[in-house]
Amino acid sequence: MESAEIRRRWLSFFEKRGHTVVPSASLIADDPTLLLVNAGMVPFKPYFLGEATPPYRRAVSVQKVVRTPDIEEVGRTTRHGTFFQMCGNFSFGDYFREGAITQAWELLTVPVADGGYGLDPERLWITVFERDDEAERIWRDVVGVPAERIQRLGMGPNFWSMGVPGPCGPCSEIFYDRGPGFGPEGGPAVNDERYVEIWNLVFMQYERGPGEGKEDYPILGELPARNIDTGLGLERLAMILQDVHNMYETDTLRVVIDRASELTGVRYGDAESSDVSLRVVADHLRTSVMLIGDGVTPGNEGRGYVLRRIMRRAIRTMRLLGATRPVVGDLADTVLGMMGQQYPELLTDRARIEAVARAEESAFLKTLQAGTTILDAAVADTRAAGSAVLAGDKAFQLHDTWGFPIDLTLEMAAEQGLSVDEAGFRRLMQEQRDRAKADARAKKQGHADLSAYREVADAAGPSEFTGYTETAGEVRVVGLLANGASVPAASEGDDVEVVLDRTPFYAEGGGQLADTGRIRLENGSVVEVRDVQQPVPGVIVHKGTVQVGEVTVGAGGYGRIDLHRRRAIARAHSATHLTHQALRDALGPTAAQAGSENAPGRFRFDFGSPAAVPGTVLSDVEQKINDVLVRELDVSAEVMSMEEARKQGAIAEFGEKYGDRVRVVTIGDYSKELCGGTHVHNTAQLGLVKLLGESSIGSGVRRVEALVGADAYRFLAREHTVVAQLTELVKGRPEELPERVSGMLTRLREAEKEIERFRAQKVLEAAGSLAAGARDVRGVALVTGRVPDGTTADDLRTLVLDVRGRITGDRPVVVALFTVAKGRPLTVVATDEAARERGLRAGDLVRAASRALGGGGGGKPDVAQGGGQDPAAIDEALTAVERLVAEAA
Ligand code: ALA
Repeated sequence: MESAEIRRRWLSFFEKRGHTVVPSASLIADDPTLLLVNAGMVPFKPYFLGEATPPYRRAVSVQKVVRTPDIEEVGRTTRHGTFFQMCGNFSFGDYFREGAITQAWELLTVPVADGGYGLDPERLWITVFERDDEAERIWRDVVGVPAERIQRLGMGPNFWSMGVPGPCGPCSEIFYDRGPGFGPEGGPAVNDERYVEIWNLVFMQYERGPGEGKEDYPILGELPARNIDTGLGLERLAMILQDVHNMYETDTLRVVIDRASELTGVRYGDAESSDVSLRVVADHLRTSVMLIGDGVTPGNEGRGYVLRRIMRRAIRTMRLLGATRPVVGDLADTVLGMMGQQYPELLTDRARIEAVARAEESAFLKTLQAGTTILDAAVADTRAAGSAVLAGDKAFQLHDTWGFPIDLTLEMAAEQGLSVDEAGFRRLMQEQRDRAKADARAKKQGHADLSAYREVADAAGPSEFTGYTETAGEVRVVGLLANGASVPAASEGDDVEVVLDRTPFYAEGGGQLADTGRIRLENGSVVEVRDVQQPVPGVIVHKGTVQVGEVTVGAGGYGRIDLHRRRAIARAHSATHLTHQALRDALGPTAAQAGSENAPGRFRFDFGSPAAVPGTVLSDVEQKINDVLVRELDVSAEVMSMEEARKQGAIAEFGEKYGDRVRVVTIGDYSKELCGGTHVHNTAQLGLVKLLGESSIGSGVRRVEALVGADAYRFLAREHTVVAQLTELVKGRPEELPERVSGMLTRLREAEKEIERFRAQKVLEAAGSLAAGARDVRGVALVTGRVPDGTTADDLRTLVLDVRGRITGDRPVVVALFTVAKGRPLTVVATDEAARERGLRAGDLVRAASRALGGGGGGKPDVAQGGGQDPAAIDEALTAVERLVAEAA
């Protein structure tokens, strides 16, 4: 049975049993505690915790999941993947243990002809949590599984949580016995290669607190309702139903293995070690494509790092297998062809995904070489120092400067017989992360503890944002915080965070900066609002200072935003949408938004593009935007379902979930985009948009910066003034400026060269008189002297040799000349053969001179060069040379 069919049956089985089909959410979790979605239940977490009311009591999904803790196992075991699809059925306060168990059993064992998966019941084994009598009873008495195929296990395997504070509960797992060829008997308690876990049923009924590992955390209490969360690994079931040895050989991954094998010429099945490598490549490439598809770009932090790490691991593995050319484009293409059948959005986004992947490969191949040299040197140093452990700071440097993921350093060091001080590396990484986090936190939140905000939300309910239609309005203080903790009142001079029941203030989000303004309360007190944030959903926090009087919780008053700032931000935000559309029109869907910032009068917009955008394209885009402005297009916003928005062709950012209500901002017939921000009413309000240029901000991502309205005008006016001044200076028309200036520069360069030639000539002309001035020092003809400042080292050398050649006769010859170039003394000394026979070597003389000059130098016995710091010491250096000559004679 093909993977696509397994998926179809899953959804249809549960849909027929009253479950709402919920499409997979993006891998980018909408959850600050998680980097990436690591279980099918993640999108439903607020329902489990009772933070939001589910719109259905039963749901079914096939969720994209990425898990990297077991990355070392990939390819080595038969069933570990960094990406997989988790089929889940969920109950929110509806059916519990019995409903979950009986439905699971039915779907697995009903014959294929009747819509099930047709597994042989005799091959299924069950584990339950050691204290879960109820689960065991249901399996035995209701389903009829023989007691000897039900095993009780401890908390590690049979109690499930997301690994972080949140919902949790005992679980029961279903295993498939692959037969004696895969290991000894004894059930899943004994062997997990033979007895493969396929389905985990979690009886979600508790909330857990923070803690380490799978067993060491406190249970905080019962959840508001008893829920069901299950997860069946699609790839594992496919492995069984397709009767292949491991999950990499199932239909969706095998094609990637075959492609990798073609690209390297290494046959799959020839040797265990190369098979493992091919499986690693297949797994990692698929995960990379899925991550990029959901908007992750390779980077050094967070999700970007997860992606970078697996991509680089795959690329290097391909090189070790023998690939010499870039391969990622071909492999990504194969993955897209396969996964695109289930996730059609991958195909519409194909160009961008491949471009990001290729760009990462070319960046890595460049650094691989440099990094390998550094690593080899570090390995040699380590060995020379008699150690077998590569220092943590070396690993950190490789990571930080050369983008070497630590596991790559570990692998490469191990290949050379060294281990790595991982603890030291992690300490340095942690220090760096702490610094970054502290920075981000100081900027955004002031502090990381969100519980005080949650308490305000619990007590007061969500704040209503009125700012789409109002810029001022009546408000009531429902929460007040100072230094991260709730306070009943605050007085003049205090820095506070005010939560209002309703507010016209926009909280920073979606790339749009916050409003500023004032809150004036009935008792006469005033809060100056500098920043507005939404630290937890529904809680809009106004940060500012109490200017006058005392602010108390419960007080009513009036809030007013700085209208001037808001309007300038709105202009920027609408301009961003136009830019996004115009870039897409010019560059294709690759130019998808990767980030933005809308500030008063200016914005920046980040988008995907494998290469720099040519200047001509950028001016076309700018022209297009400004053409749209004068068409006076109306801007409107409408809330609708995600499905409707997609149908209308709205551009969606990553991370939105199906089923959500979304706000769509429409600019006439030109642009339609999901957006929660505030906009102008008509494009004519923008006045003017000026793109300032574009640059790279990471592999495959470019940034344009731009000005809008009066700021754009002021910029152009300033440039105009500069141009006017220049035309005045060169006495030409503005369009002649480039030619004139470039002509002047050429003439200037020629003149400089000319001067240089004259100067050199003049110095060299001195050779005759210098030679004539040779003194006799104990039978040695010695020329010393200082030539004009600014003489180059080359000219000085030519001069010295020229002087030496001009002195004829039997006497040994020593010439030592000095100059000052760029403020530093310079010397060149030459000796002839007779002098050298007397032991007068140029190198020795230069060393003595340089020592006097406060520097160093040296060279061959016949001619040498040196210098120092102190031009005033030249006389002293001359004397030093003379003394040596006198001593030798
Ligand atoms: N959430 C459960 C798991 O991931 C089903 O195993």
